[in-house]
Amino acid sequence: MTYAVTGSTGQLGRLVIEALKSRTETDRIVALARDTEKAADLGVEARLFDYDKPETLAPALDGVDTLLLISGSDIGQRGRQHAAVIDAAKAAGVAHIVYTSLLNAPDNPIMLAQEHLETEKLLAESGVAHTLLRNGWYTENYLMSVPSAVEHGAMIGSAGDGRISSAARADFAEAAAVVLTDPSLQGEVYELAGDDSYTLADMAEAVSQASGKEIPYVDMPEADYAAALTQAGLPEDMAAFLAHCDAQAAKGALAHEGQALSRLIGRPTTPMPTLVAATVAG
Ligand SMILES: NC(=O)c1ccc[n+]([C@@H]2O[C@H](COP(=O)([O-])OP(=O)(O)OC[C@H]3O[C@@H](n4cnc5c(N)ncnc54)[C@H](OP(=O)(O)O)[C@@H]3O)[C@@H](O)[C@H]2O)c1
Repeated sequence: MTYAVTGSTGQLGRLVIEALKSRTETDRIVALARDTEKAADLGVEARLFDYDKPETLAPALDGVDTLLLISGSDIGQRGRQHAAVIDAAKAAGVAHIVYTSLLNAPDNPIMLAQEHLETEKLLAESGVAHTLLRNGWYTENYLMSVPSAVEHGAMIGSAGDGRISSAARADFAEAAAVVLTDPSLQGEVYELAGDDSYTLADMAEAVSQASGKEIPYVDMPEADYAAALTQAGLPEDMAAFLAHCDAQAAKGALAHEGQALSRLIGRPTTPMPTLVAATVAG
Protein backbone atom coordinates (compact mmCIF):
# COMPACT_ATOMS: atom_id res chain seq x y z
CA MET A 1 0.00 0.00 0.00
CA THR A 2 1.42 3.40 -0.97
CA TYR A 3 0.14 6.64 0.58
CA ALA A 4 0.53 10.11 -0.92
CA VAL A 5 -0.15 13.44 0.78
CA THR A 6 -0.76 16.75 -1.02
CA GLY A 7 0.27 19.99 0.68
CA SER A 8 2.98 17.95 2.42
CA THR A 9 5.17 21.02 2.93
CA GLY A 10 2.36 22.92 4.68
CA GLN A 11 1.74 23.01 8.41
CA LEU A 12 -0.86 20.22 8.46
CA GLY A 13 0.86 18.17 5.75
CA ARG A 14 4.17 18.04 7.64
CA LEU A 15 2.37 16.75 10.74
CA VAL A 16 0.52 14.13 8.66
CA ILE A 17 3.79 12.86 7.17
CA GLU A 18 5.25 12.54 10.69
CA ALA A 19 2.13 10.74 11.95
CA LEU A 20 2.20 8.40 8.93
CA LYS A 21 5.86 7.57 9.57
CA SER A 22 4.93 6.08 12.92
CA ARG A 23 2.23 3.93 11.30
CA THR A 24 3.86 2.61 8.13
CA GLU A 25 7.25 2.22 6.44
CA THR A 26 8.74 5.44 5.06
CA ASP A 27 9.10 3.90 1.60
CA ARG A 28 5.32 3.63 1.41
CA ILE A 29 4.84 7.39 1.86
CA VAL A 30 5.01 9.94 -0.95
CA ALA A 31 5.14 13.67 -0.18
CA LEU A 32 3.49 15.67 -2.96
CA ALA A 33 4.77 19.24 -3.17
CA ARG A 34 4.77 22.16 -5.59
CA ASP A 35 8.34 22.82 -4.43
CA THR A 36 10.12 19.52 -3.84
CA GLU A 37 13.13 21.27 -2.26
CA LYS A 38 10.84 22.32 0.60
CA ALA A 39 10.04 18.61 1.09
CA ALA A 40 13.68 17.52 1.29
CA ASP A 41 13.66 17.37 5.10
CA LEU A 42 10.55 15.18 5.32
CA GLY A 43 12.51 11.94 5.04
CA VAL A 44 10.23 10.37 2.43
CA GLU A 45 10.09 10.38 -1.36
CA ALA A 46 8.99 13.78 -2.68
CA ARG A 47 7.30 14.28 -6.04
CA LEU A 48 6.44 17.47 -7.88
CA PHE A 49 2.69 18.14 -7.66
CA ASP A 50 1.30 21.58 -8.48
CA TYR A 51 -2.49 21.98 -8.61
CA ASP A 52 -2.02 24.75 -11.17
CA LYS A 53 0.12 22.58 -13.46
CA PRO A 54 -2.17 19.68 -14.42
CA GLU A 55 0.65 17.95 -16.32
CA THR A 56 2.44 17.34 -12.96
CA LEU A 57 -0.52 15.62 -11.29
CA ALA A 58 -1.26 12.17 -12.75
CA PRO A 59 2.45 11.18 -13.18
CA ALA A 60 3.11 11.98 -9.50
CA LEU A 61 0.32 9.60 -8.50
CA ASP A 62 1.82 6.61 -10.29
CA GLY A 63 1.59 3.57 -7.98
CA VAL A 64 -0.31 5.49 -5.27
CA ASP A 65 -3.17 3.55 -3.67
CA THR A 66 -4.45 6.05 -1.10
CA LEU A 67 -4.29 9.81 -1.51
CA LEU A 68 -4.79 12.47 1.16
CA LEU A 69 -6.00 15.61 -0.60
CA ILE A 70 -5.32 18.42 1.86
CA SER A 71 -7.46 21.33 0.71
CA GLY A 72 -5.44 24.07 -0.98
CA SER A 73 -4.75 27.48 0.52
CA ASP A 74 -5.68 29.59 -2.50
CA ILE A 75 -9.23 30.59 -1.56
CA GLY A 76 -11.40 31.06 -4.67
CA GLN A 77 -9.20 28.76 -6.79
CA ARG A 78 -9.75 25.56 -4.89
CA GLY A 79 -12.76 24.22 -6.79
CA ARG A 80 -10.73 24.15 -10.02
CA GLN A 81 -7.56 22.93 -8.29
CA HIS A 82 -9.26 20.10 -6.43
CA ALA A 83 -11.13 19.05 -9.59
CA ALA A 84 -7.77 18.71 -11.37
CA VAL A 85 -6.41 16.55 -8.53
CA ILE A 86 -9.48 14.30 -8.47
CA ASP A 87 -9.35 13.85 -12.28
CA ALA A 88 -5.65 12.98 -12.08
CA ALA A 89 -6.22 10.53 -9.22
CA LYS A 90 -8.91 8.79 -11.23
CA ALA A 91 -6.69 8.64 -14.32
CA ALA A 92 -3.78 7.27 -12.27
CA GLY A 93 -5.92 4.51 -10.72
CA VAL A 94 -5.82 5.79 -7.12
CA ALA A 95 -8.19 3.52 -5.18
CA HIS A 96 -9.13 5.83 -2.33
CA ILE A 97 -9.08 9.58 -1.68
CA VAL A 98 -9.28 11.13 1.79
CA TYR A 99 -10.23 14.83 1.67
CA THR A 100 -9.91 17.51 4.37
CA SER A 101 -13.23 19.36 4.23
CA LEU A 102 -14.83 21.78 6.72
CA LEU A 103 -16.80 20.98 9.86
CA ASN A 104 -20.51 20.66 9.09
CA ALA A 105 -19.80 21.77 5.49
CA PRO A 106 -23.37 21.46 4.14
CA ASP A 107 -24.74 23.90 6.74
CA ASN A 108 -21.68 25.92 7.72
CA PRO A 109 -22.31 29.65 7.08
CA ILE A 110 -18.57 30.42 6.80
CA MET A 111 -17.90 31.41 3.19
CA LEU A 112 -15.18 28.74 2.95
CA ALA A 113 -17.84 26.02 3.00
CA GLN A 114 -18.81 26.53 -0.66
CA GLU A 115 -15.52 25.30 -2.15
CA HIS A 116 -15.42 22.35 0.25
CA LEU A 117 -18.95 21.36 -0.74
CA GLU A 118 -18.04 21.64 -4.42
CA THR A 119 -15.12 19.29 -3.81
CA GLU A 120 -17.26 16.85 -1.85
CA LYS A 121 -19.68 16.80 -4.80
CA LEU A 122 -16.85 16.20 -7.29
CA LEU A 123 -15.65 13.28 -5.17
CA ALA A 124 -19.14 11.80 -5.08
CA GLU A 125 -19.39 12.11 -8.87
CA SER A 126 -15.88 10.74 -9.48
CA GLY A 127 -16.74 7.15 -8.65
CA VAL A 128 -13.49 6.92 -6.63
CA ALA A 129 -13.91 5.58 -3.09
CA HIS A 130 -13.42 8.42 -0.64
CA THR A 131 -13.53 9.54 2.98
CA LEU A 132 -14.38 13.04 4.20
CA LEU A 133 -12.53 14.52 7.16
CA ARG A 134 -14.63 17.58 7.91
CA ASN A 135 -12.07 19.41 10.02
CA GLY A 136 -13.11 22.05 12.53
CA TRP A 137 -11.04 25.12 13.39
CA TYR A 138 -7.37 24.80 14.26
CA THR A 139 -6.75 26.17 17.77
CA GLU A 140 -3.60 27.67 16.21
CA ASN A 141 -5.80 30.14 14.28
CA TYR A 142 -6.56 31.87 17.58
CA LEU A 143 -3.12 31.30 19.13
CA MET A 144 -1.73 33.74 16.55
CA SER A 145 -3.40 36.60 18.45
CA VAL A 146 -2.09 35.58 21.89
CA PRO A 147 1.24 37.51 21.80
CA SER A 148 -0.48 40.77 20.84
CA ALA A 149 -3.18 40.16 23.49
CA VAL A 150 -0.44 39.91 26.12
CA GLU A 151 1.36 42.95 24.71
CA HIS A 152 -1.74 45.16 24.53
CA GLY A 153 -3.49 43.84 27.65
CA ALA A 154 -6.69 42.71 25.87
CA MET A 155 -7.88 40.03 23.51
CA ILE A 156 -10.15 41.35 20.78
CA GLY A 157 -12.56 39.50 18.55
CA SER A 158 -16.04 39.35 17.15
CA ALA A 159 -17.14 35.87 18.23
CA GLY A 160 -19.37 37.01 21.12
CA ASP A 161 -20.43 34.08 23.26
CA GLY A 162 -20.06 31.62 20.38
CA ARG A 163 -18.52 28.36 21.48
CA ILE A 164 -15.47 27.17 19.56
CA SER A 165 -14.69 23.44 19.39
CA SER A 166 -11.24 23.78 17.93
CA ALA A 167 -8.43 21.23 18.06
CA ALA A 168 -4.69 21.30 17.47
CA ARG A 169 -3.41 20.78 13.92
CA ALA A 170 -1.50 17.79 15.30
CA ASP A 171 -4.79 16.21 16.44
CA PHE A 172 -6.31 16.57 12.95
CA ALA A 173 -3.07 15.28 11.39
CA GLU A 174 -3.07 12.18 13.55
CA ALA A 175 -6.69 11.47 12.65
CA ALA A 176 -5.81 11.73 8.96
CA ALA A 177 -2.95 9.23 9.40
CA VAL A 178 -5.24 6.85 11.30
CA VAL A 179 -7.91 6.94 8.57
CA LEU A 180 -5.38 6.65 5.74
CA THR A 181 -3.88 3.47 7.18
CA ASP A 182 -7.03 1.70 8.45
CA PRO A 183 -9.37 0.54 5.64
CA SER A 184 -12.07 -0.32 8.19
CA LEU A 185 -12.47 3.42 8.90
CA GLN A 186 -12.80 4.48 5.28
CA GLY A 187 -15.83 5.52 3.22
CA GLU A 188 -17.24 7.62 6.05
CA VAL A 189 -17.92 11.30 6.71
CA TYR A 190 -16.20 12.44 9.92
CA GLU A 191 -17.13 15.69 11.66
CA LEU A 192 -13.91 16.43 13.54
CA ALA A 193 -13.57 18.91 16.39
CA GLY A 194 -12.04 19.36 19.81
CA ASP A 195 -13.56 17.64 22.83
CA ASP A 196 -14.00 20.84 24.84
CA SER A 197 -15.55 24.01 23.48
CA TYR A 198 -14.70 27.48 24.75
CA THR A 199 -15.59 31.13 24.15
CA LEU A 200 -13.01 33.81 23.41
CA ALA A 201 -13.61 35.07 26.95
CA ASP A 202 -12.50 31.62 28.16
CA MET A 203 -9.43 31.93 25.97
CA ALA A 204 -8.63 35.38 27.39
CA GLU A 205 -8.91 33.80 30.85
CA ALA A 206 -6.42 31.10 29.78
CA VAL A 207 -4.07 33.83 28.50
CA SER A 208 -4.44 35.66 31.86
CA GLN A 209 -3.61 32.48 33.76
CA ALA A 210 -0.59 31.71 31.60
CA SER A 211 0.82 35.24 31.51
CA GLY A 212 0.00 36.32 35.06
CA LYS A 213 -1.59 39.50 33.61
CA GLU A 214 -5.27 40.40 33.56
CA ILE A 215 -6.27 40.04 29.89
CA PRO A 216 -9.98 40.75 29.31
CA TYR A 217 -11.83 39.73 26.15
CA VAL A 218 -13.20 42.73 24.27
CA ASP A 219 -15.95 41.83 21.82
CA MET A 220 -16.48 44.11 18.82
CA PRO A 221 -18.89 44.40 15.90
CA GLU A 222 -17.55 42.57 12.82
CA ALA A 223 -16.65 45.77 10.92
CA ASP A 224 -14.81 47.27 13.91
CA TYR A 225 -12.82 44.07 14.43
CA ALA A 226 -11.87 44.00 10.73
CA ALA A 227 -10.76 47.65 10.99
CA ALA A 228 -8.69 46.88 14.12
CA LEU A 229 -6.97 43.99 12.33
CA THR A 230 -6.24 46.20 9.31
CA GLN A 231 -4.83 48.85 11.62
CA ALA A 232 -2.62 46.18 13.18
CA GLY A 233 -1.13 45.56 9.73
CA LEU A 234 -3.18 42.73 8.22
CA PRO A 235 -4.16 43.04 4.54
CA GLU A 236 -7.77 44.25 4.22
CA ASP A 237 -9.12 41.05 2.64
CA MET A 238 -7.50 38.86 5.32
CA ALA A 239 -8.85 41.13 8.08
CA ALA A 240 -12.36 41.00 6.59
CA PHE A 241 -12.11 37.22 6.26
CA LEU A 242 -11.06 36.70 9.90
CA ALA A 243 -13.79 39.04 11.13
CA HIS A 244 -16.33 37.15 9.00
CA CYS A 245 -15.21 33.84 10.55
CA ASP A 246 -15.53 35.29 14.06
CA ALA A 247 -18.99 36.68 13.32
CA GLN A 248 -20.08 33.23 12.12
CA ALA A 249 -18.48 31.65 15.19
CA ALA A 250 -20.72 33.93 17.26
CA LYS A 251 -23.65 32.09 15.63
CA GLY A 252 -22.20 28.67 16.44
CA ALA A 253 -20.42 27.88 13.14
CA LEU A 254 -17.34 26.49 14.94
CA ALA A 255 -19.14 24.57 17.68
CA HIS A 256 -19.57 20.82 17.66
CA GLU A 257 -20.42 18.28 20.32
CA GLY A 258 -19.41 15.00 18.70
CA GLN A 259 -16.24 13.31 19.87
CA ALA A 260 -15.25 11.61 16.61
CA LEU A 261 -11.78 13.18 16.61
CA SER A 262 -10.75 11.84 20.01
CA ARG A 263 -12.28 8.46 19.14
CA LEU A 264 -10.17 8.28 15.97
CA ILE A 265 -6.91 9.25 17.67
CA GLY A 266 -7.60 7.18 20.79
CA ARG A 267 -6.93 10.01 23.24
CA PRO A 268 -8.52 13.33 24.27
CA THR A 269 -7.84 16.26 21.95
CA THR A 270 -5.26 18.79 23.16
CA PRO A 271 -7.02 21.31 25.44
CA MET A 272 -6.95 24.99 24.38
CA PRO A 273 -5.36 26.15 27.71
CA THR A 274 -2.43 23.74 27.16
CA LEU A 275 -1.72 25.30 23.77
CA VAL A 276 -2.17 28.84 25.13
CA ALA A 277 0.31 28.12 27.95
CA ALA A 278 2.86 26.77 25.45
CA THR A 279 2.39 29.87 23.26
CA VAL A 280 2.81 32.29 26.16
CA ALA A 281 5.90 30.38 27.33
CA GLY A 282 7.31 30.84 23.80
N1 LIG B 1 -9.38 24.10 9.77
C1 LIG B 1 -8.76 25.26 9.82
O1 LIG B 1 -8.79 25.98 10.84
C2 LIG B 1 -7.98 25.72 8.67
C3 LIG B 1 -7.24 26.91 8.76
C4 LIG B 1 -6.45 27.30 7.68
C5 LIG B 1 -6.47 26.53 6.53
N2 LIG B 1 -7.22 25.39 6.46
C6 LIG B 1 -7.24 24.52 5.27
O2 LIG B 1 -6.41 23.39 5.57
C7 LIG B 1 -5.33 23.34 4.64
C8 LIG B 1 -4.07 22.90 5.36
O3 LIG B 1 -3.82 23.82 6.40
P1 LIG B 1 -2.34 24.30 6.69
O4 LIG B 1 -2.39 25.03 7.96
O5 LIG B 1 -1.41 23.18 6.49
O6 LIG B 1 -2.12 25.35 5.48
P2 LIG B 1 -0.72 25.77 4.83
O7 LIG B 1 0.37 25.65 5.84
O8 LIG B 1 -0.97 27.08 4.17
O9 LIG B 1 -0.48 24.64 3.73
C9 LIG B 1 -1.11 24.66 2.49
C10 LIG B 1 -0.36 23.68 1.61
O10 LIG B 1 -0.97 23.70 0.30
C11 LIG B 1 0.09 23.77 -0.64
N3 LIG B 1 -0.36 24.40 -1.90
C12 LIG B 1 -0.90 25.63 -2.06
N4 LIG B 1 -1.12 25.87 -3.36
C13 LIG B 1 -0.70 24.76 -4.04
C14 LIG B 1 -0.64 24.41 -5.40
N5 LIG B 1 -1.03 25.26 -6.37
N6 LIG B 1 -0.17 23.19 -5.72
C15 LIG B 1 0.25 22.32 -4.77
N7 LIG B 1 0.24 22.61 -3.46
C16 LIG B 1 -0.22 23.82 -3.09
C17 LIG B 1 1.15 24.64 0.02
O11 LIG B 1 2.39 24.49 -0.63
P3 LIG B 1 3.67 25.35 -0.15
O12 LIG B 1 4.22 24.63 1.05
O13 LIG B 1 4.59 25.28 -1.33
O14 LIG B 1 3.20 26.73 0.16
C18 LIG B 1 1.12 24.05 1.42
O15 LIG B 1 1.91 22.89 1.47
C19 LIG B 1 -5.25 24.75 4.04
O16 LIG B 1 -4.67 24.72 2.77
C20 LIG B 1 -6.70 25.16 4.03
O17 LIG B 1 -7.39 24.61 2.92
C21 LIG B 1 -7.95 24.97 7.52
